[in-house]
Amino acid sequence: MILMYNRFMNFLYLEEIESTNKYAKEHIADINNATVIYTSNQTAGRGRLSRTWNNTGAQNIYASIVLKPSTVFKDVYTNLTQYLCLILSEVMEEYDVKPKIKWPNDIRIDGKKISGILAEAVANSDGLQGLILGFGVNLNCKSEDILKINQAATSLNLEIGKNIDRDLFLRKVIDKFCLRYNKFIEEGFLFIRDDYVRRAEFLNMPVTVKVFDKEISGIAKDITENGALKIVDKDNKEHVLLIGDIL
Ligand code: BTN
Repeated sequence: MILMYNRFMNFLYLEEIESTNKYAKEHIADINNATVIYTSNQTAGRGRLSRTWNNTGAQNIYASIVLKPSTVFKDVYTNLTQYLCLILSEVMEEYDVKPKIKWPNDIRIDGKKISGILAEAVANSDGLQGLILGFGVNLNCKSEDILKINQAATSLNLEIGKNIDRDLFLRKVIDKFCLRYNKFIEEGFLFIRDDYVRRAEFLNMPVTVKVFDKEISGIAKDITENGALKIVDKDNKEHVLLIGDIL
């Protein structure tokens, strides 16, 4: 069912589904380039690092953008989650909140998570079949549902004391995403670096980052031109991390 319209993206609305990312993965061959799949009831939402994403009611965002930019994987695709993260932050700012980006792509307000992104790539022997950028945004949660989330979390309605029009919010995100997408793919992370860094949490602060089963501690010094996190440890050794999770 198609409920929304944007010149560059197709919208596919499914009333109830296990996970928009899972659906996109399973149907990748039949889904057109530039399609947004979204649902009101995501019954088995998935998060990064095998975590789950809570189902907190119909008026929140559970969505996946499917892109088929090329059959060869380009490095810039790994930065698409940071691009989407910036877009989501900018749209939230229109609602008079001050979101911060927790590298690489979590969004938090006063240390409480409001949005997360899960990117997946589908490939076969013919090459890359598609990229799936799944994102969840707490827009209209009840406080009791927020307390059930296994980390400090918040929701836009609780921050501003008003209900949010979900479809309008999603529309704004997709419009903004399309606007600078081509330039981003051409120029890479550097194109958004300043806007990203301005919103980044933890810069010049001590952090511990989990990278697979290793933990690296030090001062978060910079976000590089490739979107990597630069940490300087107590022995003055520099670590440039392309993936990881700030603990
Ligand atoms: C994270 O913070 O760990 C990432 C959470 C990503 C959640 C979204 S909700 C829509 C899409 N479908 C999923 O199953 N997960 C992502």
